Amino acid sequence: MKKKLYIETYGCQMNIVDSEIVVSILSEQYQVTTEMNEADLFLINTCSVREHAEQRIRKRLRELNALKKRNPYLIVGLLGCMAERLKEQLLNEEATLDIIVGPDAYRTLPQLIEEATIGKHGVNVLLSKEETYDDIVPVRYDSNHVSAFISIMRGCNNFCSYCVVPYTRGRERSRDPETILQEAEILQQKGYKDITLLGQNVNSYRWNDHGKEIYFAQLIELIAQKFPNIWIRFATSHPKDISDDLIDVIAKYDHVCKHIHLPVQTGSNNMLRKMNRVYTREYYLERIKTIKAKIQDCSITTDLIIGFCGEKEADHQETLSIMQEVGYSSAFMFKYSVRENTKAAKEFENDVTEQDKSRRFNEVLDLQQQLSLESNQKDIGKTFTVLVEGVSKRSEDHLFGRNSQNKVVVFPKNNHNIGDFVSVTITQCTPATLIAE
Ligand code: 5AD
Ligand code: SF4
Repeated sequence: MKKKLYIETYGCQMNIVDSEIVVSILSEQYQVTTEMNEADLFLINTCSVREHAEQRIRKRLRELNALKKRNPYLIVGLLGCMAERLKEQLLNEEATLDIIVGPDAYRTLPQLIEEATIGKHGVNVLLSKEETYDDIVPVRYDSNHVSAFISIMRGCNNFCSYCVVPYTRGRERSRDPETILQEAEILQQKGYKDITLLGQNVNSYRWNDHGKEIYFAQLIELIAQKFPNIWIRFATSHPKDISDDLIDVIAKYDHVCKHIHLPVQTGSNNMLRKMNRVYTREYYLERIKTIKAKIQDCSITTDLIIGFCGEKEADHQETLSIMQEVGYSSAFMFKYSVRENTKAAKEFENDVTEQDKSRRFNEVLDLQQQLSLESNQKDIGKTFTVLVEGVSKRSEDHLFGRNSQNKVVVFPKNNHNIGDFVSVTITQCTPATLIAE
């Protein structure tokens, strides 16, 4: 009988794959349970990207005290970015914790758990220059069996001045393309229809194959040619590295999805410089123009940081205007959150008042709501292929899925099933959803 593992994942898509890798590493001893009361091992895969994410996890750890009182043999482990950022310090601060493991040290989990069973606290937060877990087949324990993530690289070298990720996930490294293709093959055999290639900055993917360089555009092409019946998505792209080659590959293959998540962060050149984003507003807009010219019906989405150090009203207006110029179909919007030890924390003053941050945030939110609605309204009357991912939460008679543009589409079930590609015509919309026949 295997022991029971309950695992909770916070933060980005990378963390979802990492949890699947962890479950795979532990699969000889542990089986995943969805019932936390029966867990022998409770793992929390954490995010440090904003203060708020860490606070949520701290709160969760306090709640676990009660569970641990009921089951004194329960082992609680903290994984991911927060483990890496705070290290041993967390053992003193959070009495619930038995083990702390950073993103590059998951192979040592079985050992650390074993030590924890005899009462020894275990910490491994070593970062690696090579680890890509490329030989580990992730266990998709919480999957719709239609779409899956494949991690193609780890870490980040960009050091955007506000961001903690280069410190918590270490240096950028790419995964052997052969192992990526093998993983896609396994997914295809299991009936998966949609894969998302993941990395902090997929555009700087690079692998040297016996003297021949393989870049991201070539990797996509390799996958696209080998898997003509699988939809290919990817995230996240850094604007500085989005090449014409990549844009051409997206345009060339129907099953390479027409969606680019291209975080601009801010529309102001002053702020971009301070953020160390290494591109200008003009360069970004030129890339958007090229994308729109070469790829028909490509949706573009973004991340935005509001109220970064020194942001003036004029900078904020530039963010609003770039949103309008690009016409994002959706956006993730965040108030700037100071992260200890980053360049911004050390060198710049977090001087935008909370009141201004909130007001500007709401203005950005309102504008995006309007842009999302406009983007969806343009789709009314159009026909799209949708890959069905599940039954609509609102009605059992309806299915939902995503189209190539990564928009969520809801339509009547009729005799369609999860995993089908269905051709639908859009009849109505909200800012978040397309409704179709
Ligand atoms: N404060 C607010 N948002 C941040 N992000 C990264 N670091 C911070 C921070 N310190 C946002 C960026 C990034 C997304 C994943 O999180 O927009 O693209
Ligand atoms: Fe953070 Fe910038 Fe790297 Fe993205 S590219 S993970 S924002 S440092």
